[in-house]
Amino acid sequence: MNRLPDDGPLRVLVARAVFADIIDPLRAVAEVETTPDDAISPPKVLRQRLADKHGAFITGSERIDAALLDACPDLRVISTMTVGVDHIDLAACAERGIIVTHSPDVLTETTADFGFALLLAAARQIGDAERYLRAGKWSKWSVDLFAGADVHGSTLGIVGMGRIGQAIARRAALGFGMRVLYHNRTRLPPQIEAECRAAYRDLPRLLRESDHVLLAMPYSPQAHHLIGAQQIALMRPGATLVNIARGGVVDEAALAAALHSGHLGAAGLDVFEGEPQVHPALLDAPRCVLTPHIASSSMPTRRAMAQLAVDNLMAVLQGRPPLTPVTA
Ligand code: DGY
Repeated sequence: MNRLPDDGPLRVLVARAVFADIIDPLRAVAEVETTPDDAISPPKVLRQRLADKHGAFITGSERIDAALLDACPDLRVISTMTVGVDHIDLAACAERGIIVTHSPDVLTETTADFGFALLLAAARQIGDAERYLRAGKWSKWSVDLFAGADVHGSTLGIVGMGRIGQAIARRAALGFGMRVLYHNRTRLPPQIEAECRAAYRDLPRLLRESDHVLLAMPYSPQAHHLIGAQQIALMRPGATLVNIARGGVVDEAALAAALHSGHLGAAGLDVFEGEPQVHPALLDAPRCVLTPHIASSSMPTRRAMAQLAVDNLMAVLQGRPPLTPVTA
């Protein structure tokens, strides 16, 4: 098991450019290597940079696998400034006694706001409408100009009813008078279902009954392309698909085809399978709002995520239990 040294300095890598005032207190407990240019280290470079470190502050852009860990015998703690941990081989970390922490809770409401914003923008075609206006194409008011789908009073199906899914359900039910359905690996206790005003459905039924489907589950190999051509075919004609989970959950070629054919009414996507690359068929798909993985990106929330990541690192480096460890 990797242990902290009894004497000698602790060393930490902050793998991306992070708010300096939040990182600075780390310098009281460790030598800190920062990344002022915010470059993403390619795997080989990341391995070299981490080789002599005891702690790592990472984001979702840094992939942690067994080969990297084998090159980092002193690594004791990996703190990721994300709630999702699909970029980290948790089993490989556990085998080596490396503690992994993440940044849940502090981003829940901000991410739910954004999921709802994407739903509204997609269903009401705000992206296409804005581009049309800016391109100078608007010559007159007309009856069905960008006439999209209603959000209020419609049925929302949420796939993944963790903290973020629940926060979206509350917005939908209480703020927009929507009927809320959800699908989750495990059904929620009745009091949470009641509080979210959400009814459980298996996935095919949720897809068939929803006007809008929003994906908010964690990524796992089992969830890869959970929404493919078959599932999209089950969705209502004119339905909206919103993805704030991970790109790999959706078969993007099938989604683009359904937008081009007109089967789906709209899509709102904040995450992509090969990000920052976006599937070319999505780039020119109609009624599709695309954003660069920013659902948690309000300034207060990104600062809170960074602070929590630093607090977790400090705790482990000082021999205290981390605040938000990842439990495999
Ligand atoms: C998260 O926190 O997991 C967000 O997707 C940012 O990467």
